[in-house]
This record gives sequence, C-alpha cells and structure tokens, in this order.
Amino acid sequence: MVARPLQELETEMLVLTVFEDELNNHDYFHALDEKLGGKIARIIESGEIQGKFREFTIMHVEGIGPKRILMMGLGKRKDFSLDRIRSIAANSSRYARRIHIKEMAIHDFSATGVDASDSAESIMEGVLLGMYRFDKYKSKKKSPSKLLESVTIVAGSDASVSALQTGAMKGSNLAESANFVRDLVNEPACFMTPAIFAQRAEEVAQKTGVAIQVLDQAAIEAEGMGAFLAVAKGSDEPPKMVVMEYTGKPGAKKIGIVGKGVTFDSGGYDIKPSAGMLRMYGDMAGAAATLGTIQAIAQQKLPINVVAVMPLAENLVNGKAFKPSDILTSMSGKTIEVLNTDAEGRLLLCDALTYIQKHHQPDVVVDIATLTGAAIIALGRTVSAVLTNEDALYQRLFKAGEYCGERVWQLPLYEEFRSQLVSDVADIESVGGRSAGTITAAVFLKEFINEGQPWMHIDIAGTSMMEEEIARYVKNPYLPKEGGTGTGTRLLYHFVESFVES
Ligand code: BES
Ligand code: ZN
Ligand code: ZN
Repeated sequence: MVARPLQELETEMLVLTVFEDELNNHDYFHALDEKLGGKIARIIESGEIQGKFREFTIMHVEGIGPKRILMMGLGKRKDFSLDRIRSIAANSSRYARRIHIKEMAIHDFSATGVDASDSAESIMEGVLLGMYRFDKYKSKKKSPSKLLESVTIVAGSDASVSALQTGAMKGSNLAESANFVRDLVNEPACFMTPAIFAQRAEEVAQKTGVAIQVLDQAAIEAEGMGAFLAVAKGSDEPPKMVVMEYTGKPGAKKIGIVGKGVTFDSGGYDIKPSAGMLRMYGDMAGAAATLGTIQAIAQQKLPINVVAVMPLAENLVNGKAFKPSDILTSMSGKTIEVLNTDAEGRLLLCDALTYIQKHHQPDVVVDIATLTGAAIIALGRTVSAVLTNEDALYQRLFKAGEYCGERVWQLPLYEEFRSQLVSDVADIESVGGRSAGTITAAVFLKEFINEGQPWMHIDIAGTSMMEEEIARYVKNPYLPKEGGTGTGTRLLYHFVESFVES
C-alpha cells in the first residue's frame, strides 16, 4: 500500500484502467503521461485503446518508475461494479504471471466512487482467486520462480491508506478461505474421505481457536440419526459429523450453518450413469463451504456467533447399503420412505438440521448443499437456488451475493408442493417426482425445521464446480476453468456479517 505519484513508483508493471465512455477523462494518470510525452493519450486517440471491459494493451516505457504499463478497459461506467474490479485484478495478475513478472502495482478504485476498503478487498480477491491452481498431483509443477509474489495497491490519497489496508487484509482472508474450499472440493474421493475431511476441520480449529467436536459412528447412532446413517451404510468409510462453534461475541446472534458432506456420491443402488458420477467427489462442496465460512469469520474476528454442522458420508453400494423403498427413522422421529438412493443429501441434512436445532438453538439456520441436478436446469451454472421460510433472510443473502459476485435467486416454497411428498407407508417420501425437483428437496428439508425457526436452504449443485465448456461462456477470470469454484464461503461470510450490530 503506497500513496505516491504513479510515475515515481518502481514497479515491473503498473495497471492503469479506463472507462469505455470516458476515454479522455483520466486525470489520475495525467502527470504520468506528461512524463511519457503524451504517449498514452496518443494511443487512446488512435483508437487502439477503446476501454472495452477486459480489453488490454501492454506498453514498455522508459524514463519513469514503472517498466511496463498494462492498460485495462473497464467497460462503460454504468456497468461498473466490484465484480469488474475482481475481474480486472484477476486478468492483470494472470497476465503478469504469464510474462513471468514477480511483482505488479495497481491503483485503488476510490476515484470511481467505490469505497476504498471495498476496492482493495476486491483487488485482493481478484488476484488471489485468479492465481489459483490445483497442481498438487502433478509431478512437474510450474516453477515457483515464475510466480507472482507481490501486488502493490497505489492509494489515491494518504487518507485512504488505512481503509485500503483493512480491505486488502479482508479480501486476502476471504480469497484464501475460498481457495481452501477449492482445494477440499478438488481432492478426489480417495483422498477426501469423511475422516480426512474431519482432520482438515481439526486443523482449521487449531489454527483459528474455534471449538470443535467430531462425532463418530457410535455418537451419530446414539443421537438416533437413522436417515444420515442409512446413507453411510454402503461404504467401508465410517461417517463423521463435524460440529464447530465460533463465539465472537457472547450474547450476540447465533447463526447455524449446515453443509452437505457426501465425499462421493455414486447414487447408491440407484446408481448414476458414468458421466453423471465422474465429478461426484465434489458432493461435499456444501460442507467445504461451511468450513471455509467459519474459518473466514474466525480470522476476521467477527463479533457474532456461528455454529457449523457438517455431516460426512460416502454414498456407495455393498451388501449393507440402503435400498430404494427402505423406511428410515430420522433423528426427529419422522419416518422416511426412500424412493431413490441417489437423493441421499437430504437424508444427511434432515438429521443435521434436527441436531443443530436441538443442541444449539441458533437464531437462524442456513443449509448449503449440492442437492439437486434440477438446480442446474433451473438456474444454470452461475446462480445458486435459495428457498426460505423467511423472506428477510433471502433479502440479506441476495445483497451478500450481489456484493461478492456469488449470485443467488429465490424459488418458491408454496404449500402445494408438500403433496408431492405424501407417502402411503411412512410420514414422508424422500423424493417428489421429476417436476420442481429443487423445490421438493427444500420442502422435504422444511419438514425438519421447528415451528418458528428461521431457515434458509442454498442449492449449489450448479455453482460449486466449473467445467471447461461452461467456463468458455461464463468467462470469469477469477474462477477456475475446471473443478471447485469455492462458492458459498464468501457468500455466507457476507450474509453472517450482515447480522453484526454496529
Ligand atoms: N449430488 C447430487 C446432485 C448433483 C447433481 C450435484 C449434479 C451436482 C451436480 C444429488 O445427490 C442427487 O443425485 N440428486 C438427485 C435427486 C433425485 C434422485 C431426486 C438428482 O438431482 O438427480
Ligand atoms: Zn445423489
Ligand atoms: Zn449427492
């Protein structure tokens, strides 16, 4: 963080930005361009730089501090957002890495009217999320001597330095937590069993001082979690349930978060076709996002309380596995007729929801899960589905999503959908047929929510992982082209932060 005239800054590469519709309005680098004899102004006049979003030009310059200038287009001012800052920062740092530069500088964006702290937060998020790679299992890693090591944010004024510092620290923490979630999701199932996930959670607890309890199979049985246990029966890997408690301010609101942790979803006896099974090592993305959230909240020391519950199991097939038409008794006492063993996530979640309400009395409960393929059909790969029994919760989450670039959209929880889950033999069926699959999954969960308990469900089946053909049209430079996106952590962080009383 420095507040210094741009032309005096010693840097390998300085990023400058221009709005498409205000090409001549760039007072902030006027002095620098004077030193260059008006070189940038001439290039702009020639039409070579148009300022279109993410369009860039590199210039090698002499006689001033920076050795190179990367001109980046911001697009039209009316379309400007924090997310565009993230994208520009990601593009710039990826470009720096490509040309083997170890250090770069970028100006803050407070001149555009955004808050200085938000500006630095978004820059750091863009850089760190954009630099992410999962190359743990490659024997030939990219040489570390070629990695970007430092980014300088140039403050528009001395007055904004401290806000920029706070924002940069927050952005780094959030992006590092999201990258941690990506790592968890990207581990194949052979290296991410319920027990290994629980170990990772123990490490987070140790690092952050958050209290942790790991329930083993016997403890889960003692709680009577018959729905959760049924899913785990078909695997040699025993189930675990991780419970973490962060106390940031005794007496303040307590937010409960429950995340689906199916470390591999084969579908069970209702087995998935191979194409659909391939990426099901990522079916613990809800639990990973939950762990990332509590880590980020603890690191930022938010004055709020969070309890997180992560039920973990593998959905496989063997001679003991649960079967379609089995009837299960959940922790709540409600009986469930299993219509399809591939609808396993709701079975983990219903017991975890009962558990968190019984033992922790949270003011608000949110669950996050890769729950239904139907969420991808409804909202695609960039918007998560949300259902709630209290609209005010959705309003908060929507705001959080718009702020951090992890977008959400609400689906209705109308009473009539309950009729799709009526069972002849048990209290409820586990599946409500093909229509409105994301909604009926949420309606199932709602059956396990106590009267008057504010609750919200987030379905991240579409948004938790990226695929190359989707990346081609999503074109988001701070998301990976393949694998875990880390979705949920930044979203839930900002949601929880909205409950902090100032
Ligand atoms: N884990 C899947 C949902 C999923 C699908 C996540 C695609 C990510 C990408 C879930 O357990 C599942 O299989 N759901 C079934 C439910 C159905 C049997 C009612 C589905 O969506 O097909
Ligand atoms: Zn499934
Ligand atoms: Zn699943």
